[in-house]
Amino acid sequence: MKSGSLWRLSARLRAIFAPFQMLIVTGTYWGDEGKGKIVDLLSAMYQYAIRFSGGAGAGHTLVTPGGQKFIGHLIPCGIARRVRCVLGRGVFSDLKRFCTELDVAKGVFGENLPPIWVDKYSPVWTQWHELLEKWLEYAMGKKRVQTTGKAIGPLAGLRILRAGIEVRHLYGDPRLLRQRLTGLYVALKPCFDEMVRLGIIRKKEVWGPSKVERELLEHAPRIERYVTDTASGLFKAFCHRARLLFEAAQAPGLDIDLGTWPYVSAGHSVAAGAPLGTGMPLRAFARAVVLMVMKALPTRVGAGPFPSEIWDRKKCEQFALDHPELFKDTPDRIKFLRVKRALINAGRATAKDWAQYFQVLGYELGATTGRGRSVGWMDIMWLHYVIRINGPRWFALTRFDMLSGLKYVPVVVGYKLDGKRLQPGDMPDTDDLYRVEPIIENWKCWDEDITGISDWKALPYSAKQFIWKLEKLVGVRILLIGTGPARHQIIVRSSAAKKKVQIAA
Ligand code: IMP
Repeated sequence: MKSGSLWRLSARLRAIFAPFQMLIVTGTYWGDEGKGKIVDLLSAMYQYAIRFSGGAGAGHTLVTPGGQKFIGHLIPCGIARRVRCVLGRGVFSDLKRFCTELDVAKGVFGENLPPIWVDKYSPVWTQWHELLEKWLEYAMGKKRVQTTGKAIGPLAGLRILRAGIEVRHLYGDPRLLRQRLTGLYVALKPCFDEMVRLGIIRKKEVWGPSKVERELLEHAPRIERYVTDTASGLFKAFCHRARLLFEAAQAPGLDIDLGTWPYVSAGHSVAAGAPLGTGMPLRAFARAVVLMVMKALPTRVGAGPFPSEIWDRKKCEQFALDHPELFKDTPDRIKFLRVKRALINAGRATAKDWAQYFQVLGYELGATTGRGRSVGWMDIMWLHYVIRINGPRWFALTRFDMLSGLKYVPVVVGYKLDGKRLQPGDMPDTDDLYRVEPIIENWKCWDEDITGISDWKALPYSAKQFIWKLEKLVGVRILLIGTGPARHQIIVRSSAAKKKVQIAA
């Protein structure tokens, strides 16, 4: 892309976002929706990029203009724009993984990283949290959550039970640190003993308080320069008119309270998590705007309901394991996609063909776990729900290019439960969500490859109709349309920034 066009892109974004001192970016479905790319793009308009929830289980991918990939598990994706990166109070600190991520970031962005803040009151990961997660997953048997294994649930749970340590304890009175660690150990030891008895772990795998303490203190000096009271720092910055971008982890479907509990992560992934997870007063958010990042075809990993799921979760995971070559740029991949697309367009595709086509086309592998992601149709019912709980002004629709070359794509436009059609905005509970029957409509797609298009006018008419139809149904404007992984492969619809759509009934 010519630098002139890049400059025009930035200028348009600047004009759109200038009135909003604060921006909250959330996902829409169950994560992995391209928030990394959007945050990377929009951080240029802000001075702070702030994570407000989750921990190392999240994985936000961005591709630098030089083509290098960075997967941020803890560090916000604003890092590529050299803005101040903040791990707010709602983020669980995993010191070892944070250190590793610093090294990776240095490899990608150079030794001289932008300033980073880690909250001094943030709960700290220990080996025991991870063992406890293993125990819980074992105990829940078939009903296990299939977590990322980064102990997010135990970190949140023990925080609520008021056990464990905060980052600040590593730099305070050593006796207090030891007392708190010993308390946590004593509380959890019966679980560990039972795990040993059942042969889930070996006795020597359970560290004692001194070993856990030693491990933490090994990383503490490296992190010390980043540790601060982020809530106070952010408030001061806000008062000095600094521009703040808040980056949610995962997405509303995985929010602890508003997602598909218990098949959720353990933090707040909705926009309302931003004040709580940063300590910023609600009043400040009068100057905020919410942008939700939605991918054209949602995906889900782990357990939990997914009403618009195309095929089978386990089989999708296995397929990715069995065919790693299809997830790399190989001739096999190109051939596979051609064959599947031909089947789809001939009207002979099964659910398996559709799912595998999108799984391969979208490189749908978990950024943290490498698990194959299961793909679903766009789901208007789910969109109504998440719009209600997040109040977005706009959507960023990512991976729109994935629909190129198809005659049509099914879209879920309603749910039926026990034979009755639900109203938009109604959301059944988790158990009923497994039972809903999706009502499907086929939406027309287009022949032309739209990869890399950055001008709305250059989109095929059917692609524009697709966007208009979607906006009309959900009542929210689509401001950004992703047409590829790189920063500049995006359409900015300045006209959508101004006009409102009629809110659907
Ligand atoms: P946890 O966050 O490790 O506790 O995992 C809870 C659930 O959230 C599991 O189903 C995970 O697969 C899912 N999950 C956690 N982080 C992500 C993510 O970044 N993308 C997609 N799913 C995630």
